[in-house]
Amino acid sequence: MTNLQYFNQAVEILLESGNEDAVFDTECIFEKAFGINKTQYFIRKNDTADTEKAEDFLRMIERRKNYEPLQYILGQWEFYGLDFKVGEGVLIPRPDTEILIDYVLENKVSDNPIIYDLCSGSGCIGITVAKNIESAKVYLSEKSPLAYKYLEENIGLNGTTNVYPYLKPIPEVLEDFPEADIIISNPPYIKSDEVPFLQKEVQLEPTMALDGGEDGLYFYRLLKDYAIPKLKKGGYIIVECGDTQARDVAEIFETDIILKDYSSIERAVVKRKE
Ligand SMILES: C[S@@+](CC[C@H](N)C(=O)[O-])C[C@H]1O[C@@H](n2cnc3c(N)ncnc32)[C@H](O)[C@@H]1O
Repeated sequence: MTNLQYFNQAVEILLESGNEDAVFDTECIFEKAFGINKTQYFIRKNDTADTEKAEDFLRMIERRKNYEPLQYILGQWEFYGLDFKVGEGVLIPRPDTEILIDYVLENKVSDNPIIYDLCSGSGCIGITVAKNIESAKVYLSEKSPLAYKYLEENIGLNGTTNVYPYLKPIPEVLEDFPEADIIISNPPYIKSDEVPFLQKEVQLEPTMALDGGEDGLYFYRLLKDYAIPKLKKGGYIIVECGDTQARDVAEIFETDIILKDYSSIERAVVKRKE
């Protein structure tokens, strides 16, 4: 069979499973399996495909058909221009989260800030900030051993040296951290009873990364009680939240600084320490 025939077969399988991005997903998986990108594909589409690679390709398409997230199948995803390893047990970095990075890079507070990334998952926030502010020291806390494995791998992948990862949960880990200039967190924020009704792909991401307690706000109260007291005067905390939660989080933090994401949705809250 030719490359073209395998490609078309895969698109059809994914379309039948209701995948609205069947062509894009096939392109990504095709490149991963055959090492042939979109441009090369047009020149080589009538070549006979390598059988072993084709078997791998169809296995990956089958996984996608069963709603495994594309990013887990590829094993790597981009966030703020950097690559992060991802797979079962770790949340996939989302573009919404990039507004937190923009804000921190524009509001560094000090020449060599102490920064926390709490609930760090893959490390996409902490590692990106550490890469962009080389004089910073970034402390990361993650509770899940599975996610922590990816965090460690991503520190190596990005050659980051100014980071201090802890496999220890909040609030306990905060006792080990020095006072902070900036605290960043994208905590779990889905209401517990909504988790079972999320999109099939999202349900395959770890519950520990999603479940924000009965009203989805559990972690913001925890951050208010335990993390904000660790801020130096003039420092601030910035958190991501769900698309209807910003007002509630602002009330918990007693602030009125709310930031919108690139789709104009209220997505982050900032509290400054006077
Ligand atoms: C929404 S995910 C965010 C991951 C990453 N920061 C990102 O933006 O992609 C939340 C993460 O918090 C972790 N987590 C849950 N409870 C925690 C706790 N008490 N302390 C530290 N991490 C926790 C989860 O395992 C998960 O990796």
